[in-house]
Amino acid sequence: MKTIIEPFKIKSVEPIRFTTESERERILRKAFYNPFLIPAEDVLIDLLTDSGTAAMSAKQWAGIMEGDESYAGSKSFFRFERVIRDLTGFKHVIPTHQGRAAEKILFAITGGKGKFIPNNTHFDTTRANVEYSGAEAVDLVTADGRRPELVAPFKGNMDIEALKKFIVEKGKENIPVCFLTVTNNSGGGQPVSMQNIREVKKVLKSFGIPLFLDACRFAENAFFIKKREAGYSRKSLVEIAKEMFSHADGCTMSAKKDGLVNMGGFLALNDHNIARQARNLLIVTEGFPTYGGLAGRDLEAIAQGLEEVLDEHYLTYRIRSVEYLGEKLTAVGIPIVQPPGGHAIYIDAKGFAPHIPVQEFPGQAIVCALYIAGGIRSVEIGSVMFGKYDSRGKLISPAMELVRLAIPRRVYTQSHIDYVAEVVQQVFAQRNRLKGLKITEEAPVLRHFTAKFRTV
Ligand code: F0G
Repeated sequence: MKTIIEPFKIKSVEPIRFTTESERERILRKAFYNPFLIPAEDVLIDLLTDSGTAAMSAKQWAGIMEGDESYAGSKSFFRFERVIRDLTGFKHVIPTHQGRAAEKILFAITGGKGKFIPNNTHFDTTRANVEYSGAEAVDLVTADGRRPELVAPFKGNMDIEALKKFIVEKGKENIPVCFLTVTNNSGGGQPVSMQNIREVKKVLKSFGIPLFLDACRFAENAFFIKKREAGYSRKSLVEIAKEMFSHADGCTMSAKKDGLVNMGGFLALNDHNIARQARNLLIVTEGFPTYGGLAGRDLEAIAQGLEEVLDEHYLTYRIRSVEYLGEKLTAVGIPIVQPPGGHAIYIDAKGFAPHIPVQEFPGQAIVCALYIAGGIRSVEIGSVMFGKYDSRGKLISPAMELVRLAIPRRVYTQSHIDYVAEVVQQVFAQRNRLKGLKITEEAPVLRHFTAKFRTV
């Protein structure tokens, strides 16, 4: 087989700024050892997130000029609506400025005290919006999905028996909606199988509970189904994506991922009553229902992006580039969440730096070392992001200490990825030198964004 190449030519480039190791040491110190506080200009390869960081195509940029900025009834809205209806089959399409705005509106209507919202694994903003409404967010991913070293095809699947038990225990009247996140970001970008989607729907249907997809990375999920699930290898990615949506009653979407744009999202659903309330709320918080917090040009770019993302050559290259990085790290014994997910590699920090106790944030130590060694920005997903304190102020750590290397879409080439692998390998070879960190300042919620550290 020949090398899988980037399925595009580059027409417009953005220079990246090189710095020396001693400059980066100074920059990192000035940023209090928190990558969120480093100016992006001082980053060489930015793997902080795959959200809103995609490169748009020539046709998307053309769409930016085509955008109709009419306040009401914009031509661009009707294109946006047509593309999403055709893809998802959902009757109502409600634009929002990004994914979390769609979540906020949906849970403001369906959530509230005494309600429960199950998901395979809630993403932080989804959980936060569920909890903000007064409801409880519950994760019901299979046991396999909680084992980082296990190689299995669909580690994003929901535990069907646990779901049934949960509904019976809490009462169907207290569960207004159940979610499946495709792919499961918080669980390592792992896909959900079509069979699991079908089985979840069957259970929910018997109780009269609607199924929603958190569809941010639906195209990457469709690709994994095509490659890994029996009966799908000959189906087109469009057919597979349409089937995924056909089992659901609605979705929330951050178009900043598989919409291939820098900003935007939507809520789409079949229920007339919820849609009516959602549009009313939208007018208060986002904007008129034919733009919902977005410019007409954004709606054009999203419509175009959704038409491009299911291209077989694009997804083959996309998933391969993540897997390729995973293979290079695994080859020298670097522990990562297996198998590589659709949008990111997750390094197991406890395995990488076993000499640093969780109280000294091994993941953050690796994040800092990757920046100093190669100007690479990544993010800790462990005790910094999810750690809580008990009544005596002792740290309660989450199960895993991870470092996420998220790959922006269509932005970096194979040599960029080779460079990233070399830097991670170099840091790994010198891992005994890694030092832990202490927090010197932190916010009461979502502290990882602003916390300040010093080295131990
Ligand atoms: N759901 C999932 C699964 C996500 O990964 C995100 C965002 C959202 C919802 C919220 O969308 O940012 O448009 O409001 N994830 C980004 C990340 C931030 O880095 O993983 P948003």
